[in-house]
Amino acid sequence: MPAVTATAPGKIILFGEHAVVYGRPAIAVPVNQVRSRAVVNPEPAAETGRVTIQAPDIGLSATMDQLPQNHPIRFVVERVVSVSGASRLPACTIRVTSSIPFSSGMGSSAAVSVALIRAFSGFLGRPLSDELVSDLAFEVEKIQHGTPSGIDNTVITYAVPVFYQKGSQIERLKINSAITLVIADSGLTSSTAETVADVRRGWEGDAARYEELFDQIGDISRKARDIIISGNPGSLGSLMNQNQTLLKKIGVSSETLDSFVETAMASGALGAKLSGGGRGGNIIALVSEDSTTFVADALKKAGAERVFTTRILSN
Ligand code: MEV
Repeated sequence: MPAVTATAPGKIILFGEHAVVYGRPAIAVPVNQVRSRAVVNPEPAAETGRVTIQAPDIGLSATMDQLPQNHPIRFVVERVVSVSGASRLPACTIRVTSSIPFSSGMGSSAAVSVALIRAFSGFLGRPLSDELVSDLAFEVEKIQHGTPSGIDNTVITYAVPVFYQKGSQIERLKINSAITLVIADSGLTSSTAETVADVRRGWEGDAARYEELFDQIGDISRKARDIIISGNPGSLGSLMNQNQTLLKKIGVSSETLDSFVETAMASGALGAKLSGGGRGGNIIALVSEDSTTFVADALKKAGAERVFTTRILSN
């Protein structure tokens, strides 16, 4: 049995986070500069069924039975064995690493799941379809995040820009005119489970107000899709700013994220907003070729822990 490796990209949400949990559409794109990787190596000398897990980024080195039943890595391994119908589990070592910053809104948990599901099902000789990979990763997201919308596992599994709405067919977005984004990671970790739960508390307290805000965010995602399809991405900037204002109203921005957005705008960005769960994590700024370096430098000076530029364009 040969070693099997699989990787999965990070992601950012361009429009519609949080509202997507409540059935409104959102747009997400893969970010290939950061990736999670899973490598499964056979251990022919070890006893059948012995699975060793190494995840050095989180200081984990253990055999699978030492992990709690609902540990995401153990959960994935056991689900892949059961879904793939493999009758015997060959001894192996699974090594998981990731360059996607944790708890930063870039989809690190879904990317680890997708890479692991693909590597492990490949190792068992039963590679799973994209649909099953995404469904299994969604099961893990539910353990970790409570009530996820499914957008993270979808965009990361298919690794293409998507217009996503819960319960609807996934719409792949063709991006014919490049969208250039500066991504600035605040370095402040934030749990998506917590921000999603806080938004739910707000919604329970004043459903009418939140539904109205979610409707406005959904409209922004639809307008953004039309702009992307028509190939004039420069005009996405004002929609990003409007989306940021609405995210502030639902309480998921923070002083740091607001100040990064202001810094990006003051240094020439066409629009900027937080991306993902919010509170910490990253902001994204839409830039033209001329302003990319100014915006990136200004965000570094403003204290962003990591700043990088990504160019989104369909092949
Ligand atoms: C997280 O990337 C996006 C949220 O909308 C949560 C979700 O959709 O599951 C905040």
